[in-house]
Amino acid sequence: MKIFTSKHSLGEHLATLRNKSKTIGFVPTMGALHQGHLSLLQIARSQTDQVVCSIFVNPTQFNDPKDLEKYPRPIESDIQKLEQGGCDILFNPGVNELYADNEQWHLNLGELEHLLEGKFRPGHYQGVTQVVYKLFDIVKPDVAFFGQKDYQQFMVIQKMADMLNLPVRLVMCPILREPDGLAMSSRNIHLSHDERQHALVLSKALNWFAGNFEPGKVSFLIGHCKEMIGKEPGVELEYFEAVEADSLLPAANNSSEMVILVAAKVGQTRLIDNLIIS
Ligand code: PAF
Repeated sequence: MKIFTSKHSLGEHLATLRNKSKTIGFVPTMGALHQGHLSLLQIARSQTDQVVCSIFVNPTQFNDPKDLEKYPRPIESDIQKLEQGGCDILFNPGVNELYADNEQWHLNLGELEHLLEGKFRPGHYQGVTQVVYKLFDIVKPDVAFFGQKDYQQFMVIQKMADMLNLPVRLVMCPILREPDGLAMSSRNIHLSHDERQHALVLSKALNWFAGNFEPGKVSFLIGHCKEMIGKEPGVELEYFEAVEADSLLPAANNSSEMVILVAAKVGQTRLIDNLIIS
């Protein structure tokens, strides 16, 4: 695996690959890699000739400085995992490589920015679009791969790509779960043994919703799931919502495809999860 910290050297290397008609797949990450990230890498490898992964803990998408500070950064083991996973190129820039001083960014994402995560993490998606735009500009991928776990993030990035006519195809890859159902996340390492047990209520509630789903019962099911999560010790629910899969607006009883999304704090750790219901 080739490792680049400079955008110019990476750009030059990618230009030579493009001249040889190689297609470029891109998996942007913030590191602390787990099987979920590695599954994106495998999907990218199956669809493109050369895969670039980036590891960059993007300061502009954190609205809580403590969260940014404690975000895990195990770069040596991440490099090992990417090498074992068959990644071709790692881009691991420093903050100054991507950002100039006092840089301003704002993209009009409309209501999409303020729903769900947006209510609890104001400004988060401005930071995400800012860094993903920069990374796309450097890597110029043919296809970029994102996890379904950040469903709203995928929608936001797709909206940016549509608005700015970016020549990239986005692929949403399924959530990977631990055997007990917990969605894989870089943040799971912050959970104590007990918190990890309590965190299981999130995937249990999503599965209960899906297992009992009937058109006309959406409000009842949401109410029951909120109650279920509310009763779990150490879990502070932020939202549990059923929304239309394409607009993220509240789902109607006859919606053809909906997503149920949940966010909660388990101890000090904020977790998100979701399930698509067709
Ligand atoms: O999903 C993530 O890990 C991040 O939000 C992303 C897309 C790498 C941008 O920093």
